[in-house]
Amino acid sequence: MLDENKKWGRLWGIGVGPGDAEWLTLKALRIIQAVPVVALPQNVRGGPGMAYGIIREYLQPTQKVLPLALPFVLDGEILQKAWHVAVEQLIPWLEQGQDVAFLAEGDISLYSTFTYIARTLQAQAPWVAIESIPGICSPLAAAGVLHTPLAIGYEKTVILPALFTLDELGHALDWAEVVVLLKLTSVFAQVWQLLKSKNLLEHASLVEWVGGPQQKIFPNLLDLADYKPPYFSILIVRRYPYVF
Ligand SMILES: C[S@@+](CC[C@H](N)C(=O)[O-])C[C@H]1O[C@@H](n2cnc3c(N)ncnc32)[C@H](O)[C@@H]1O
Repeated sequence: MLDENKKWGRLWGIGVGPGDAEWLTLKALRIIQAVPVVALPQNVRGGPGMAYGIIREYLQPTQKVLPLALPFVLDGEILQKAWHVAVEQLIPWLEQGQDVAFLAEGDISLYSTFTYIARTLQAQAPWVAIESIPGICSPLAAAGVLHTPLAIGYEKTVILPALFTLDELGHALDWAEVVVLLKLTSVFAQVWQLLKSKNLLEHASLVEWVGGPQQKIFPNLLDLADYKPPYFSILIVRRYPYVF
């Protein structure tokens, strides 16, 4: 039962960009430094994950850092449970009137766990205000470091996560001038073969860990037949190459 006199805190969803701390927006930085509680996805070892690495230098020791277990799995039941448990960890702080910032790498609207956290919180405590602060997403950052536009003039750009079928990818490559692929690791070998069959290996660039200290750029895929890119990799296929 909602106590009308109680003032609840707000949940902020903040995109912290894909790696370079200087790609944070001014608003993201202001809110991150102002909130008492910073929640973020855990890494595979159970510690604070990638988003924490990006903003760590801006936090004060007085701020509570809350790493949340949000597994990288496809099983809907496991995910629902994880989102529910994560939200249960946020509610006590919100209930005490404390604002909580949930940080996500990249932008919070592009394949981001924040969407599920916000939806789960809305179902459990619909009176909590939710605010969002967009961040630089990995496709934009990758285009930036590749010195190429993501779209110009009449061009169409398609963004696909790894769950596509090869047929779907084939259609996208025939239809759009620019195709961006995320979550590549498990499908890279098939993608490479398809690009080869379409003579697009020279038109495809791979960026790993964009914006981070370990950033790596492959301007084309010609020599990467047996390569296995890490999870944080992004591929941009541009039918009409353009580099500035
Ligand atoms: C779950 S999605 C999250 C996307 C993120 N919300 C964004 O706005 O970029 C994760 C995928 O985004 C891409 N990605 C995110 N950050 C990246 C980075 N720093 N370098 C390369 N790819 C990245 C990878 O393809 C990764 O598999």
